[in-house]
Amino acid sequence: MVRIPPLAARHNALRCIACIKGRPLALLNRAVPQWPPAPVQVRQKRPFSQEHVPASGSVAAAPEGELRGYFSFPAASEQKDFKPGNTVTVHGFLGKRRDKSAKLTFCDLKSPKGFDVQIVSAVDAKNAGGPASVLHKEFRNIPAYSPVAATGILQLRPGADANLAGPESQFELRLTQIQSLNDFPKDIIVSQDAVWPLSARHLQMRFDPMLRDRLHLRSKVNSTARQCLESLGFNEYETPILFKSTPEGAREFLVPTRRPGLAYALPQSPQQYKQILMASGASNYFQFARCFRDEDSRADRQPEFTQLDMEMSFATGLDVMKTVEDVIQAIFRMLQSRALPRELDGIQYTDPARIAERYGNSALHDEGSALWPIPDSNFVRIKYQRAMSDFGIDKPDLRIAGHIQRIDHLVTNNFTSMITNLETPIVEAAQFKLKGTLAENQAFIRGFMDRISNSTINIDPSCTPGVFIFDETKPLDGLSAFGHEGAGGMAMMETEYWPALEHGDLLIVHARKDVPFQGEGSTDLGRLRKAIYDAAVQEGFLDRDISQKFCWITDFPLFTPDDTPGEGQGGAAGLKATHHPFTAPLTLKDAELLRSDPLKATADHYDLVLNGVEIGGGSRRIHLADMQKYVFTHILQMPESGISRFNHLLEALRAGCPPHAGFALGWDRFIAMLCDVESVRDVITFPKNQKGEDLMVKSPSYLTKPQMETYHIAPNRWEFKDKKEV
Ligand code: AMO
Repeated sequence: MVRIPPLAARHNALRCIACIKGRPLALLNRAVPQWPPAPVQVRQKRPFSQEHVPASGSVAAAPEGELRGYFSFPAASEQKDFKPGNTVTVHGFLGKRRDKSAKLTFCDLKSPKGFDVQIVSAVDAKNAGGPASVLHKEFRNIPAYSPVAATGILQLRPGADANLAGPESQFELRLTQIQSLNDFPKDIIVSQDAVWPLSARHLQMRFDPMLRDRLHLRSKVNSTARQCLESLGFNEYETPILFKSTPEGAREFLVPTRRPGLAYALPQSPQQYKQILMASGASNYFQFARCFRDEDSRADRQPEFTQLDMEMSFATGLDVMKTVEDVIQAIFRMLQSRALPRELDGIQYTDPARIAERYGNSALHDEGSALWPIPDSNFVRIKYQRAMSDFGIDKPDLRIAGHIQRIDHLVTNNFTSMITNLETPIVEAAQFKLKGTLAENQAFIRGFMDRISNSTINIDPSCTPGVFIFDETKPLDGLSAFGHEGAGGMAMMETEYWPALEHGDLLIVHARKDVPFQGEGSTDLGRLRKAIYDAAVQEGFLDRDISQKFCWITDFPLFTPDDTPGEGQGGAAGLKATHHPFTAPLTLKDAELLRSDPLKATADHYDLVLNGVEIGGGSRRIHLADMQKYVFTHILQMPESGISRFNHLLEALRAGCPPHAGFALGWDRFIAMLCDVESVRDVITFPKNQKGEDLMVKSPSYLTKPQMETYHIAPNRWEFKDKKEV
């Protein structure tokens, strides 16, 4: 599993690193031998390497016996045959050899099928030069990490308990035959304590057990969600990946075709198809859907990502929210019973087999389940306006104690003018009860404020956060900037969500414009509060809270002012849909507001937030074609050319489409949260880097001239060179 240790311990947790002797890692792919390799004289029998194939590349020309070894090897024995005394064959990767003497060698064999054994190869003096000693020599010649088929007599390791279920490392295999299936090259060095680059993802998966554990966890969570939805009457429908460019909101990836001027677009989500499915009479849809958005990569964002996408007909938003809660609870129940998260020796494990292998079965039974508590059956629901005023953000982290408080009544004009040049701002405060001494807390916040100038927390330059430490030894408790009355008021303030200030507490004061929230995601103070919390936990000033605090944020504004040309739906009204343009107004009154004051209309839109991360979003949809057309035409004021791109949807709605609502769970984000890793990249097999590149395969790659001609792509914006792969 994968609860993240503090940074220092995390470094320990990164256990192996590859480098290629004498070559930078970026060139890793080039290290793979070419097929066919150049001919060299045969020296050894075993490996099929560059030595065996003539320059002509004819495989048949290679020594027959050599090749046979690579294309035929003994089948692995079945699980039921793994009993002490039996002769069995195990497939797997060799570990590092442990030569106890010239005549005795041990080596772990990691089997991808989960049956790990320790190989023992021994020769006694009497048999020197006999078959056993030839085998022993062959075995010792096979490089570590090579895939092998090893046959031998299974026996219990000394001291092992035959009754212990599970950990196969209880066994050892007295070697009788071994065959390397592809020698691990000598120029790939596997060592400890470093990080694998994305270009060597195949090696990272081989040698980083934590990454493998996370991917296995993902697979288990996928099947649990599938089973749960199927048990609730959902069907998995697949929808096309080659879709069409529509102004739904996000920037798309286009796929040119051989027909001049025509292109597909990859779906930013299956939103339109799933609504068409509802019009088609499919009632409960779900899909693990691959989505594509041409946006900059961040820790929680990939250009290609996965959603657990769903839609229900004859349903309201409440029905969908209930279903999502059921799925999440099923997942947490599975996590509790099957994959206990454990941190042992600074390493995070999700896979119980791995824990048992290292620490024995007893390590599975304590503590673990406390780390993945099943969330409450009804997640807290918070309306958007309240979330913004209480937490300063539409994805609140409910692990942070207390609320933001308005303190306009306690501050003087003089004070306000020190923190902002806004005319009549709203002044708000947040507090933290840190664990350090007053001096330590002071040093922490000073360091934090110094760092935020280079960070991504964009603070409005017209307002400066006021930072105070409540200090009973100072005049007015260190709050003299508030004036007599203000400082007294602050010291006295105490509510359910604002515990009274105490010696050493941290107080952050900030001003913002006095305007209603109109669809923005956060205030400066909201972002600061979350960043301070994260830093305080990281640096040990607050206890790490491992609970999973889910909440629904509801009642978003239907539309958001938008003055960025080219964003949203490309309409002329200066508005964009807060969620997407298919979202329904919440009530009849909101539907009426579409005509009079659309910015005041509330949407039947709900986001699911877990510990401050938006892990999903959904809405009830407009199911009436006329209303949908009205939104496109009159509210967003999209051009006819944009509206006509949605004709398929309007046509489907017109054909008696029932009311429907749906949701998409950002699967990569959700799994990253379960695994407690900071980036979605850590739970994706082959993620893309900041620039959207897959360094493993080196994509995107340059087009060739013939490809450009076939796809009618003119290199008029950049000089075409017959680029070589780099
Ligand atoms: P939305 O755009 O809110 O809704 O997406 C749903 C969830 O998908 C995740 N997500 C991402 N994850 C990784 N990388 C990205 N680039 C990325 N973008 C979004 C987030 C987000 O909450 N069709 C609607 C859903 C609906 O209305 O049913 C949709 O896609 O966790």
